[in-house]
Amino acid sequence: MKIADLKRKLLTIIRPKKSITRDITAKNFYGKDDSEIPGYTPDHIIFCDGLVKIYKSKDTEVVALQGLELEIKKGEMMAIIGNSGSGKSTLMNLLGGLDRPSAGILIVDGKNLLRMRKNEILEYKKKKVGFVWQNNARNLIPYLPALHNVELPMLLAGKKNARKKATELLEIMGLKDRMHNRLSQLSGGEQQRVAIAIAMANDPVILLADEPTGAVDTATAEIIYNIFRKLNKEFAVTIIIVTHDRAVAKNVDRVVTIVDGRTGSEYIRKKSYKEQIQELDRMSGVEESETHEEMIVVDRQGRLKIPEEYLELANIPNNSKVRLKMQDDKILIYGKDENEEDV
Ligand SMILES: Nc1ncnc2c1ncn2[C@@H]1O[C@H](COP(=O)(O)OP(=O)(O)OP(=O)(O)O)[C@@H](O)[C@H]1O
Ligand SMILES: [Mg+2]
Repeated sequence: MKIADLKRKLLTIIRPKKSITRDITAKNFYGKDDSEIPGYTPDHIIFCDGLVKIYKSKDTEVVALQGLELEIKKGEMMAIIGNSGSGKSTLMNLLGGLDRPSAGILIVDGKNLLRMRKNEILEYKKKKVGFVWQNNARNLIPYLPALHNVELPMLLAGKKNARKKATELLEIMGLKDRMHNRLSQLSGGEQQRVAIAIAMANDPVILLADEPTGAVDTATAEIIYNIFRKLNKEFAVTIIIVTHDRAVAKNVDRVVTIVDGRTGSEYIRKKSYKEQIQELDRMSGVEESETHEEMIVVDRQGRLKIPEEYLELANIPNNSKVRLKMQDDKILIYGKDENEEDV
């Protein structure tokens, strides 16, 4: 062996592997272990802090998420509501490992997604997450019967009893009598239910649904939400629904709003489902405001976003200064000093 070759060989033994270097760099970047990230606890299935996603092309840059904060606990069924272009699908793609964040912290099922290697992300996508899309053609094969469509992901994952599990799931979806029909013979709403069964096939811990009722009527949407609730209860799967439809609120425990790539107010259910169902039996037409309470989030830097309508009512213009006053244990926010004259 030539001396140069020997030197090269020795150097490859001495040098640390590339992956080790990358890992250490990532650790230094956060400066601490994931378990030490402020606010993060093991009962979080999703934890985002300062999450940024920038889409870059040759001459444009779109900041789709600008420092988003989001905490979701294991077993929650919650919704994220936002207008078109607010960053909902971007967020779903990041949560599902389909795309990588540009910066920030994103912990999914106890692991920092920014630190995961390609094969770890692949495992995460295959075993931990289920997706339901508005356009379900992404998951479905039209010329195969519903049953085979649901069996397929289990067979690909090498799971036993695929037929049995697929049958059970389609029964939960209320499609017992339609499971041998080809997908092309099913209605849009039925196809969407098959898509949910497919998403559940490999026992995910997180079910991500992007506008799952966007293409169905109100009655079918109700059926789909009932299915989500059943899955959430029976399989303890965390369900995250993104939509622009505010009516989703009555079907979930918590709603987080997303505006321009940042999270805003939260609406938290005042009563448990059981209490509410009992109430619905007694009367009909309960308003959303009676079932949910709006919570304004104070973010980790202590900032708070006051809804426009509150500012308007309090006569506080945007981009102005306000005063704070403690009254007992409450904080009063007001635009002008009480003794100040109108100018
Ligand atoms: N692949 C991409 N490349 C460049 N820009 C993108 C890409 N995907 C999304 N965007 C931009 O990022 C922003 C957020 O888009 P996103 O699809 O997340 O919104 P959304 O809330 O899901 O909207 P909708 O309700 O219409 O589905 C938009 O300005 C969009 O144009
Ligand atoms: Mg979208």
